[in-house]
Amino acid sequence: MLPLLRLLQDGRFHSGEALGAALGVSRAAVWKQLRALEAELGLPIHKVRGRGYRLESPLRLLDESILAASGARPHWPVMVLHSVDSTNSEALRRLERQLPAPFVVLAEQQTSGRGRRGRTWVSPFAENLYYSLVLRVEGGVRQLEGLSLVVGLALLHAIRAMGVVGAGLKWPNDLLVNGRKLAGILLELSGDPADVCHVVIGIGINVNMLPGALQVIDQPWTSMRAELGHGVDRNELVSLLNEQLSIYLERHRKEGFSRLLEEWQSNHLWQGRAAILTAGAQQIEGVVQGVDSTGALRLLVDGVERLFSGGELSLRLRNDS
Ligand code: BTN
Repeated sequence: MLPLLRLLQDGRFHSGEALGAALGVSRAAVWKQLRALEAELGLPIHKVRGRGYRLESPLRLLDESILAASGARPHWPVMVLHSVDSTNSEALRRLERQLPAPFVVLAEQQTSGRGRRGRTWVSPFAENLYYSLVLRVEGGVRQLEGLSLVVGLALLHAIRAMGVVGAGLKWPNDLLVNGRKLAGILLELSGDPADVCHVVIGIGINVNMLPGALQVIDQPWTSMRAELGHGVDRNELVSLLNEQLSIYLERHRKEGFSRLLEEWQSNHLWQGRAAILTAGAQQIEGVVQGVDSTGALRLLVDGVERLFSGGELSLRLRNDS
């Protein structure tokens, strides 16, 4: 189906005959694939007698050859999948099959995209970025301290480099614009964190999806396109993200999180704000002080500073904050 989509991605008309000839299949087989594109990917296709078929709107698909040809550093191998349950799950499967890290898995669509705290990450076809980078971690647990926050910084720089203004971070690693979520990060470990392990850095960015198109997201959200007023080339975004990640991960590897703490806090949208931390069934009210050198949240609760860390925690602003 992907070769057919590549032919149609320009949004122009293509006759059934020309598509069949390019793909080496019959017109009937082209027709079958077109129906599958519509049904499985939700891509509307227009058919006009005498002119052929065209996509309702043009697409720019992720392209391994464009990404490899960009020549930009780092030279992490990038694999683009058409559809997968979750790029993080696929990355973990590839690790089990001994694929050497680092490598990046991208997909045009996720059928079971995962968010933090057991949530679903809505992942429509060819609209957004679903990105998983796998790294080998050799320095033990210390190399993991603050890692997800550092990934947030790199992501923020990549998003800003594409022209989005007003973006900032929310502990532990959401990227927001005007209180709306633009991107999220999900780190997963494989192996022994005290020794040699691998970390899968999963990043989801709402790129070209437009609010209104999807009602199924259970929190306020935005996209790069909504913020910029124009569509974004996802291949360019991947190159920028790779570049920023390689810079920040290298700094983190050499210097640890404490050297990046100030920078993280200066980009933290909720510094000094009154907030409520949810930890399981518990709700803790306090004022956000920042983070410590391990990336744990510093919250002033009844005049006493307390530290919180862990993947199951979530923070929201108090209504009067
Ligand atoms: C969050 O809840 O904010 C984290 C969202 C992370 C989503 C990304 S999309 C690519 C990777 N694969 C997944 O299944 N999840 C992450």
